[in-house]
Amino acid sequence: MKYIFEVEKKDYSDFASGRVLYSAPNTTGFPVRLASEIIQRAFHILAREGKHGPFRIYDPCCGGGFLLSTIGFLFPEKISELIGSDLDPQALEIAAKNLALLSPEGLGRRQQELAEYATAYGKDSHREALASLERLRKLLGNHTVETTCLQRDITDLSPSPIHDVDIIVTDIPYGQLASWGGASGTPVESLFENCHRALSKDAAVLVVVADKKPKLRHQSFRRVEHFRLGKRQIAFFQPLGRQVGGGKDACHPEY
Ligand SMILES: C[S@@+](CC[C@H](N)C(=O)[O-])C[C@H]1O[C@@H](n2cnc3c(N)ncnc32)[C@H](O)[C@@H]1O
Repeated sequence: MKYIFEVEKKDYSDFASGRVLYSAPNTTGFPVRLASEIIQRAFHILAREGKHGPFRIYDPCCGGGFLLSTIGFLFPEKISELIGSDLDPQALEIAAKNLALLSPEGLGRRQQELAEYATAYGKDSHREALASLERLRKLLGNHTVETTCLQRDITDLSPSPIHDVDIIVTDIPYGQLASWGGASGTPVESLFENCHRALSKDAAVLVVVADKKPKLRHQSFRRVEHFRLGKRQIAFFQPLGRQVGGGKDACHPEY
């Protein structure tokens, strides 16, 4: 896979899980360069349809909210709301703390906490975290990103509490750290169905990140981009059956 937007590899250590962002048990941070590339590709797909944001962005398997928070710090001006849901209430507690960092007040509280640790323990890691926090503060500027966190089984097909989302980006369970829980025997299929319900009826994008195993296709979506990076596959979809130019587009036969 060739990076199109995040062409230059940078030092992303300011985002390291457990430094300024809180780390959730049994999760690893999502690669920052890849997160930036993915969301810029999603912005580009929507820009081609005349949608330039700010966008409502939803991660239905948000874990500790690392992916969403990263996107929030990198592109605060492109976001009207970040929504995270997960089955695991403990992960959601961390997600709420991470998403709360996306405001000058939230960063101020975290700065105070880290300063207290630095005074109490005199560790370099806390001083480095404070320096990282200053750089994240610069990225965020004066923006306060609106955020929502809720517990939800994304494989449960009861009526969706979430609508009118412009972009869904989600890193679904794989590997040894996170596995599917919830009601459905076919979780990936149910995830697609729920995402279709949550997405805006005009231009919208779903991005699914997974390991190599699942077949990432669904009859309600047209797959518009797909690439592999290391052990991951990343697929971009646009929902079918939405209003296009006054009529409904048809389900694409090859998907
Ligand atoms: C790979 S982790 C996501 C990590 C997240 N992207 C981050 O940045 O922290 C997958 C998540 O899916 C969640 N999950 C598993 N089954 C689920 C379900 N049925 N509904 C919602 N979330 C689920 C797990 O609790 C886990 O947090």
